[in-house]
Amino acid sequence: MSLPVYFAPMEGVTDAIYRRVHHAHFGGVEKYFIPFISPTQNLVLTPRELRNVSPEANTGLRAVPQVLTKNAAHFLWAAQQLADMGYEEVNLNAGCPSGTVTAKGKGAGLLLSASDLDRFLDGVFSGAQLRVSVKTRIGFSSPAEFDALLDVYARYPIHELIIHPRTREEYYAGTAHRDVYAAAQARTSLCLVYNGDLFTAEACRDIERAYPQTAALMLGRGMLANPALAETYAGGAPLTREALRAFHDDLLRAYEAAYPPRVVLGRMREVAKNIACCFEEAQKPLKAVHKAGSMAAYADAVSRLFDDYELSPAPCFCAQR
Ligand SMILES: Cc1cc2nc3c(=O)[nH]c(=O)nc-3n(C[C@H](O)[C@H](O)[C@H](O)COP(=O)(O)O)c2cc1C
Repeated sequence: MSLPVYFAPMEGVTDAIYRRVHHAHFGGVEKYFIPFISPTQNLVLTPRELRNVSPEANTGLRAVPQVLTKNAAHFLWAAQQLADMGYEEVNLNAGCPSGTVTAKGKGAGLLLSASDLDRFLDGVFSGAQLRVSVKTRIGFSSPAEFDALLDVYARYPIHELIIHPRTREEYYAGTAHRDVYAAAQARTSLCLVYNGDLFTAEACRDIERAYPQTAALMLGRGMLANPALAETYAGGAPLTREALRAFHDDLLRAYEAAYPPRVVLGRMREVAKNIACCFEEAQKPLKAVHKAGSMAAYADAVSRLFDDYELSPAPCFCAQR
């Protein structure tokens, strides 16, 4: 039996349209995490945030919104808005490594001080009316920070603790610290979800075997490259060129119906760069996708990719793009 799979939130990529089209084409995803909303002093959701979290934009799939803040009152305000929309779970972002975010003490900035994190979580959990899960890194500068952070997390009824076992300073570089994840499993009774570098069904099965207490897997970049990854891991058929093309074309149509060409081009270039990983030796069309300055140039580059290149026998994310 495979573990449940969660689609990681990816700001700028896995928006409501992406999630809906993915769900229409591929199975295997138990929950889709929505990229963060970031409440500010004014306590309003921006039109863009509303487009992403509105229940109408997420019908038919199980979506979990995410909040990025260091202010418990702001978190609770956002959680209430989301509860009013019908959501039963909200996720706290304690992992975003971006400098502009951490400089404000948000995202992975929450990990700079275990005592500040404790105070913040105390405020969150004393008022939260719905399940709160947390997506965390293992420290700001060093993996050694995680013991103290885990002690803090253990004091709260966190619905699920999703661990990306890298520090903020590592961003996505190097290898994930699976030893730190293993040690966390041995030390906590919290429900743990593993996230990080799972790019093939075999890699998912490895985690399942190595860390049997794991409740679920969260997949990010692996799903952007091979959108059938969760389905294949769950025992479904591997990705085919036809399935990938149908997904791509529907996504393109859905973006075209919603956005002006300039926005569509930006979105689709990102999509195509990711799926190009699934093709053998596809540097040439990939370069053409990068350079495409118009939808016509984009369509041409993508046609070349699908028509002239072989799908890799093990289609998966590749870092060197
Ligand atoms: C472009 C991009 C945007 C991301 N946006 C978010 C986000 O909004 N919230 C969040 O918690 N993580 C975000 N992440 C991190 C991913 O959710 C995930 O933790 C990370 O990619 C590691 O998982 P993976 O190795 O399976 O890709 C983002 C990552 C990328 C590459």
